[in-house]
Amino acid sequence: MTARLRTDVAHNARVWNYWLGGKDNYPVDRAVGDHVTGLYPSIGEVARADRAFLGRSVTYLAGEAGIRQFLDVGTGLPTADNTHEVAQRIAPDARVVYVDNDPVVLAHARALLTGSPEGATEYVDADAHRPEEIVAAMTGTLDPSRPVAVMMLGILNFVLDTDRARTIVRTLMDAVPPGSHLVLTHPTLELGGEGNAEAMAFWNENAEPPITARSRAEFASFLDGLEILEPGIVSCARWRADGTERAVAQFGAVARKP
Ligand SMILES: C[S@@+](CC[C@H](N)C(=O)[O-])C[C@H]1O[C@@H](n2cnc3c(N)ncnc32)[C@H](O)[C@@H]1O
Repeated sequence: MTARLRTDVAHNARVWNYWLGGKDNYPVDRAVGDHVTGLYPSIGEVARADRAFLGRSVTYLAGEAGIRQFLDVGTGLPTADNTHEVAQRIAPDARVVYVDNDPVVLAHARALLTGSPEGATEYVDADAHRPEEIVAAMTGTLDPSRPVAVMMLGILNFVLDTDRARTIVRTLMDAVPPGSHLVLTHPTLELGGEGNAEAMAFWNENAEPPITARSRAEFASFLDGLEILEPGIVSCARWRADGTERAVAQFGAVARKP
């Protein structure tokens, strides 16, 4: 782990934690985070809207949709209302597998493994570019014959090749049965996010891992073959929100495998 842990280069999990108001970050993360905020002032709002979307989507899935298994790929550092906390508040028997490849997230994973006694939480240190390894690892905790909510919030943007990103989604969704769901968020230069282009270029020269934005059509292509739930592909801030939220330049959607 130590070989992978760099404190001299800003890393996404730690900068995201900084934007969310967390304390698990280094000076280099705060410096890059502040510079990005200077170029793209709504980035903090994007991070908060993304987490609020996580809360609303998991509440729907564990509640109305009756999902009891969650695979959260690109977990991020533990913060308030992590997936298992939202799900197990509604369904104490919910089982959650977290996946991330950042060594600092691995170091903090203990905080994610504090689920209810009736349920289960597991942490897998794996790279989303190798989805077969994720499928193999999740089957220890999740029953592949029962529906799974596959959550990929703010992570496909770190898979730069769109075909490869589609293959990753397909591999994960092929491994889960009908009735499973895909929960996605992704940054875009649409929805008023044009200003993010310069911020992403700065990020790619100064931080890890490199990032890309995607269009609505590219985002929609990740959902091919799935039934997109209402209200469709929208700013994640507006997904089943109370109608007063300002749109942020981050697509969000939930889709069901028929
Ligand atoms: C923007 S954060 C999002 C965290 C959380 N899903 C959320 O929505 O708040 C992206 C996370 O994806 C992780 N990540 C980036 N590339 C990854 C990869 N190739 N494999 C696994 N995790 C990755 C980062 O370490 C980071 O924790």
